Amino acid sequence: MNRTESILVTGGAGYIGSHTAVSLEKAGFRVILLDNLCNSDISAIEGIRSLVDYDVPFYQVDCRDKESLGDVFQSELENGTPITGVIHFAALKAVGESVEKPDLYKDNNIGGTRVLLEVMKEKGVSKLVFSSSCTVYGEPENVPVNESSPILPAVSPYGFTKQECERLIQDHTKRVTKQTFQSVLLRYFNPIGAHPSSVIGESPKGVPNNLVPYICKSAAGLSKPLIVFGTDYPTPDGSCVRDYLHIMDLAEAHVSAINFLFDKSQINRPFCRAFNLGTGVGTSVLEVIKAFEKVNGVSVPHVLGGRRSGDVVSIWSESLRAKSELGWYTKRSLEESLKDAWNWQKKFI
Ligand code: NAD
Ligand code: UFG
Repeated sequence: MNRTESILVTGGAGYIGSHTAVSLEKAGFRVILLDNLCNSDISAIEGIRSLVDYDVPFYQVDCRDKESLGDVFQSELENGTPITGVIHFAALKAVGESVEKPDLYKDNNIGGTRVLLEVMKEKGVSKLVFSSSCTVYGEPENVPVNESSPILPAVSPYGFTKQECERLIQDHTKRVTKQTFQSVLLRYFNPIGAHPSSVIGESPKGVPNNLVPYICKSAAGLSKPLIVFGTDYPTPDGSCVRDYLHIMDLAEAHVSAINFLFDKSQINRPFCRAFNLGTGVGTSVLEVIKAFEKVNGVSVPHVLGGRRSGDVVSIWSESLRAKSELGWYTKRSLEESLKDAWNWQKKFI
């Protein structure tokens, strides 16, 4: 297998990072994992290694720790496997928590990205894929949103950190002159589900903040009934609408993005290109619950509750740019995603 490119995956023990690591390895890239394990567990690293049958290197490092981050680049260089690209997942991601702890979110997410860019500059690494989010669009006036939709004021401090990180990367792309810096901003909608093997999946620490992990725990009897956050929104059934995509579709989008960056390497000009990654279909919270119950044959104990602060009402994607420029589009259904999510949860019952 051609392992000429070594890709550093920050946040590699997390939900999206772990699935992406497997897809990258399968596509022939060499992966180096980095995570401080603040929202993940070492078992994810073992899961990745078992799926790719290779002892993928792992560094337990915080992205804000400049010296340790620099050491990771240095050791890989000395091993003869210099890092040539980075996918930066490492961040805190809970919208509701960010309202309570805005400074923590700014420090971790913006601070970590700033340090990473400094280290990449020092080490001469010039290809970056950044985990952005549809939250950069704020509360959109029109849906679906595409990459030309306005970047409106962030609804949560979390969304603000993603907007700021995008700005940092855009500035860095313009400013770094010694190398040609080339970057991709991937604006994810809502990834759900798990690897079809159920060897890796979504395992947040503590009470899940995200909808589908909470549905799974609730259906498994491992948590209190799910609270539907808000049923009086101006949507068809009153609950919020999102664009849910299978985690393996999202993982594969990163392979396409990395290939896009390396294909462009012969073009000697800096660029920063944003892509929406979603299905193009909006689904409400109540519809997700119904679909989960139907496809898995289990009931989801739930109660109707008040709104969660920081929530966007309704957003889904137009992902035509990803299709035409990355050759990427979603292939898996909502039902398949919910089935894989439940198969993963069943391991813990
Ligand atoms: P996750 O919490 O499962 O993974 C993030 C990982 O980063 C965790 O393993 C955590 O321990 C690690 N981490 C956090 N701060 C760190 C730091 N300072 N240094 C090193 N490691 C650190 O979350 P995820 O769902 O895999 O999300 C990955 C990225 O995608 C995040 O940037 C998130 O904001 C973004 N995103 C996620 C979603 C989603 O719905 N899951 C949607 C849009 C964007
Ligand atoms: N929800 C509930 N009950 C819960 C959890 C969630 O009703 O217990 C609702 C939320 O209010 C929201 C929907 O389910 O309406 C989806 O919520 P999530 O927390 O799963 O997802 P968010 O859309 O709030 O945010 C997620 C990630 C962010 C990312 C964003 C992109 O957590 O990192 O998707 O859409 F930026």
